[in-house]
Amino acid sequence: MSQTEEKLSISPYKRHVIMCVGKSCGENMPLLKYMKEAVAKAGLGEGEGAVRVNRAGCLGVCKQGPIMVVHPEGVWYANLDEQKIDTIIQSHFIQDEPVQAWAFHEQA
Ligand code: FES
Repeated sequence: MSQTEEKLSISPYKRHVIMCVGKSCGENMPLLKYMKEAVAKAGLGEGEGAVRVNRAGCLGVCKQGPIMVVHPEGVWYANLDEQKIDTIIQSHFIQDEPVQAWAFHEQA
């Protein structure tokens, strides 16, 4: 079986975070790394409440970065830093309460 014929699979997850690491958002790879590590530390790396974290080159907002969007709710956060990520993990990902104070859009 060739590689293209292999069946692809992804472990189940509850939320999908897409963080922009584009130029206008500061190309913030250290913050992406922090997010991935903090999610794993919170026990959300796999299992029922798993949070999948990926990066994007641009999410089309390009102001007040770093920007990320959290699906399935479609909640967009801006001006992220490590402290905000810790709070978002606790409130949004663990308690299912998005942090409205930092959300600038929700795709309800
Ligand atoms: S570079 Fe981050 S939204 Fe465009």
